[in-house]
Amino acid sequence: MWYLRNLWERIRVAHRNNSPLGVFDSGIGGLTVLKEIFRELPDESTIYLGDTARVPYGIRSPETVTRYSFENTRFLVSNGIKLLVVACNTASSVSLDAIKGKVSIPVIGVIYPGAKAAVRSTMYKRIGVIGTEATIRSSAYVRAIKTLDSKAEVFGLPCPLFVPLVEEGWTEGEVARMVAEKYLRDIKNKGIDTLVLGCTHYPLLKGIISEVIGPEVKLIDSAVETAREIKEILKKEGLERDSEEGPSREFYVTDSPDRFLRVGERFLGHKIKHIELITKL
Ligand code: DGL
Repeated sequence: MWYLRNLWERIRVAHRNNSPLGVFDSGIGGLTVLKEIFRELPDESTIYLGDTARVPYGIRSPETVTRYSFENTRFLVSNGIKLLVVACNTASSVSLDAIKGKVSIPVIGVIYPGAKAAVRSTMYKRIGVIGTEATIRSSAYVRAIKTLDSKAEVFGLPCPLFVPLVEEGWTEGEVARMVAEKYLRDIKNKGIDTLVLGCTHYPLLKGIISEVIGPEVKLIDSAVETAREIKEILKKEGLERDSEEGPSREFYVTDSPDRFLRVGERFLGHKIKHIELITKL
């Protein structure tokens, strides 16, 4: 009897641990987070959902973003994921706690890992945060940073035009520089030594942002930090995948799979083999 119970438990754990990580974003941008997950956790299977029919989230109300986030979560959970990554900064800013209250698996957003890295990096306790309007309005980064270091000063700045620029592939050149200079002028005068790239799209503008803000300001890529955090949690919770078979990589979108394939490869850094359109979440 004891032997059977032990065997059953081992099968259950193996099945759970070999389940995929679920990742959602408002669209393509979360692929910057997925890219880092592939790098940090190459053996884990993943299911990515890009809500391309309803992007952008960054200009919507917290209620609407939360409703969309619940629907995305339900879809991924119904596909048997073992851990949920809310790759969208906007959704993480306004809906993370509500999502956590709905599911029994671990849920990781991108705000806390970014905030933690910023606090670790700053010497003068002066941190800038750039993101969508909804992310900056929510003050989620300010709260997370202040919880970690109450003496830190945080300066938030919405940079909405960065998202369409990146989607268009204009990550360098004259237009990108002009937009970056106009946005970053104010925050540059605040004497920050650390700047959080608080939006999925901004890591693709790292080069131009660094040129404009100056090499002395350290840029924090929430995507990199989030992937590290996921690795730690999988280890701590005993959820690491343990299989001889290669990992599976599934992609779903709610609209325009062709565009996702074309633009997404730039975000992910390699080819997306198979993608499915879902019309109802
Ligand atoms: N994914 C969003 C974020 O990180 C950017 C795009 C949008 O506004 O939906 O905030």
